[in-house]
Amino acid sequence: MVRVTLIPGDGIGKEISKSVINIFNKANVPIEFETVNAGFEVFKETGNAIPNEVYESIEKNKLALKGPLTTEVGIGYRSLNVALRKKYDLYANIREIKNIPNLKSKYDNVDLVIFRENTEGLYIGEETLSYDKEEAIALKKITKKKSNRIIKKAFEYARDNDLKKVTVAHKANILKVTDGLFLDCAREISKEYEKIELEEVIIDNMCMQLVMHPERYKCIVTMNLYGDILSDLAAGLIGGLGLAPSSNIGDDISIFEAVHGSAPDIAGKNIANPTALILSSLSMLKALNMIDEENKIRKALYKVFESKEKLTKDLGGIFSTTEFTDEIIKNL
Ligand code: NAI
Repeated sequence: MVRVTLIPGDGIGKEISKSVINIFNKANVPIEFETVNAGFEVFKETGNAIPNEVYESIEKNKLALKGPLTTEVGIGYRSLNVALRKKYDLYANIREIKNIPNLKSKYDNVDLVIFRENTEGLYIGEETLSYDKEEAIALKKITKKKSNRIIKKAFEYARDNDLKKVTVAHKANILKVTDGLFLDCAREISKEYEKIELEEVIIDNMCMQLVMHPERYKCIVTMNLYGDILSDLAAGLIGGLGLAPSSNIGDDISIFEAVHGSAPDIAGKNIANPTALILSSLSMLKALNMIDEENKIRKALYKVFESKEKLTKDLGGIFSTTEFTDEIIKNL
């Protein structure tokens, strides 16, 4: 048995985590979840958004599956997601965006992975507001070390999957120093991979290209904010946020989670789509080399997509979160 930390999180987090737990139980996955709670709801109850037992559990188990954590907009409450990524140096945010077999979407040729730098850029949270509140400044930090390691990760993925190119998305034409440094790192690293071409695309053009020709891209590497925006855009290409998984990988600890947030507009209604968190949990099984279990659940999940009715509301179906989950379990 492998022990994994489970943080259900805020909003729809409890509903979609329950779905994963039920599927894993029925599929006899040799994983024991240690459930600990963090988030805005915990903060409101206790005044502490991440209790110590959460850190202790993550540090002991090294692997966590996490539901979404609410970050209130405005000053005073910092993102817990960013805090966890920073604390454990989870530098590679890997977001796989692939068409779900049997699901009709506007595009049927999307099969790409976005490698987003996860620990610096505009997410360092260094902002200032002038005394008269007329001027606000945010600092963007790019370092060679952190750029190199995410770019390397993307090239290793391309090499291991026989891809011919890696696309770096940037805005070095305007942000000559920060994005310029990231781009220079990409050019330098690409020299170590003779068979893989480095394609350079300016971020605004990247957005348009992804919408016009998603099939042209297989592996994209970029900075923190651009990666965040691009992955939501890309999730839209395959049917929405309910379908996009992500992994936060560090050298020692990894946290798997869906791309989407806590979806307060649908929380508590039993209508959330658990697919993104299920797919994230399958990435975790892959990382644990539990390939048979991963395949079994993936097949059972994809089979549900054969019938449009059996899907959740976001995909035009009529099934609730629990009915959708039961259907996967039936297919196991
Ligand atoms: P969101 O991703 O929660 O929701 C955007 C839209 O997508 C909503 O209409 C929602 O109903 C829908 N949606 C999202 N997940 C869905 C699912 N599984 N099934 C069906 N529909 C789904 O983004 P929003 O509203 O901008 O953020 C809400 C909160 O979540 C904020 O506090 C934000 O900071 C936080 N957040 C947390 C993340 C994390 O924990 N990794 C990531 C993104 C946002």
